[in-house]
Amino acid sequence: MTYLPDEKRYAGGHYRRCGRSGIKLPLISLGLWHNFGGVDLFENGRAIVRRAFDRGITHFDLANNYGPPFGSAEENFGKILAQDLRPWRDELVISTKAGYLMWPGPYGEWGSRKYVLASLDQSLKRMGLDYVDIFYSHRPDPDTPLEETMGALDQAVRSGKALYAGVSNYSAEMTARAAAILRDLGTPCLIHQPKYNIFNRWIEEGLTGVLEQEGIGCIAFSPLAQGVLTDRYLKGIPGDSRAGKPHGFLRPEQITEESLAKVRRLNELAQRRGQSLAQMALAWVLRLPQMTSSLIGASSVAQLENNLGALNHLDFSDEELREIDEIAR
Ligand SMILES: NC(=O)c1ccc[n+]([C@@H]2O[C@H](COP(=O)([O-])OP(=O)(O)OC[C@H]3O[C@@H](n4cnc5c(N)ncnc54)[C@H](OP(=O)(O)O)[C@@H]3O)[C@@H](O)[C@H]2O)c1
Repeated sequence: MTYLPDEKRYAGGHYRRCGRSGIKLPLISLGLWHNFGGVDLFENGRAIVRRAFDRGITHFDLANNYGPPFGSAEENFGKILAQDLRPWRDELVISTKAGYLMWPGPYGEWGSRKYVLASLDQSLKRMGLDYVDIFYSHRPDPDTPLEETMGALDQAVRSGKALYAGVSNYSAEMTARAAAILRDLGTPCLIHQPKYNIFNRWIEEGLTGVLEQEGIGCIAFSPLAQGVLTDRYLKGIPGDSRAGKPHGFLRPEQITEESLAKVRRLNELAQRRGQSLAQMALAWVLRLPQMTSSLIGASSVAQLENNLGALNHLDFSDEELREIDEIAR
C-alpha cells in the first residue's frame, strides 16, 4: 500500500538548531546501526522508519558498514526510500560516515582521501541518492594528516555529494583542529557525533566547550547505552535483545551486576518522575544546551514510541540531577 506520512507530523515542533548553522534537527533522531541489516527483518525496519517519520523524526543516521553484512543497512534504507519516502526527500536529513573497516586492503578504512571519497560514492549508490545531508569522518586517524581527511570532507561538500560535514569520535583537541581546518577551507564543521549517556560523560571534560565556542552542533549516540539504560535487562538477557544476539555489539559480559544495580535505582527514579527509564535517559542527554539531538536505536515500533514519550517531560530538578550523578558514580 502506498505510504502517506501523517499530516500532523510536525505539530510537536521538537527541533533544535544545529550549532550556529541554519539547519534544525529533531530532538530524537533514528540511527540504523543495528536492526536494519541483512540479518534483520526488512519489514520491521521499514515500519520503524515510517513511524519515525510520521512522528516528526526527520533525521536518519547511517554509516557505510552498518549491517551486518557491511553496507546492508544503507541498501535497506535505499529500499525504504524507493518504496516509501522518496517523495519527501527534501524533508529528510540523511547522514552517512566513513572511517571504520569497510573493505579489505589499505584503502578500506581510516581517513585517507582515497578511502573517504570512494566510500561516499559507494554509500550514495547503495542508498540510491544523489547526495547525503551530512557526511562524517567516523573516527580520527592517527596516521593521516588531519588536513587530508578534512580536505576530503570539503571536497565531498563542494562536489555536491554532501551538504554538510561532520566528525565523530574526535577528541576535544582534534575537534578544535578539524574545525579550524574546515573553516579555512570554507566548509564549516556542522556537527560532532560522540557517545554520551548517563554512564559515559567524557564530552563534558572539554568537548562541549569546544563545540560551544566553534558553534558546532552535537548529536549523542548510544544515549541508552545500547539498551542498558532501559528496562530491557532487568530480568535477564532476552534472546531477541542486542546482548542476546550473536552479532550485537553489546556483549552479555558488559551487563554486569554492578551496572544493573545502578539501572534498578535509576529505573525507580524514572518511575517517580512518571516516565520510563529510557525516557529519562534521553531527557538527561538533552538537558545540555550544546546538545542538538539524541540519536537512538530501536528494534521495534513500540520502543520508538516509548522513546518519543521523553519529549513530554524534559526538565529536571537540581535534586533529581544530583541523585542521577550519585547513582551513576
Ligand atoms: N558514530 C559512532 O561511532 C556511532 C557508534 C554507535 C552508534 N552510532 C549511531 O547511534 C545510533 C544509536 O546507537 P545505539 O543503537 O547504540 O543507541 P541506544 O539508543 O543507546 O540503544 C538502542 C537499543 O536500546 C534498546 N532500546 C531502545 N529503546 C528502548 C526502549 N524504549 N525500551 C527498551 N529498550 C530500548 C534496543 O535494544 P534491543 O535491540 O535489545 O531491543 C535498541 O536497539 C546508531 O544507530 C548509529 O546511528 C554511532
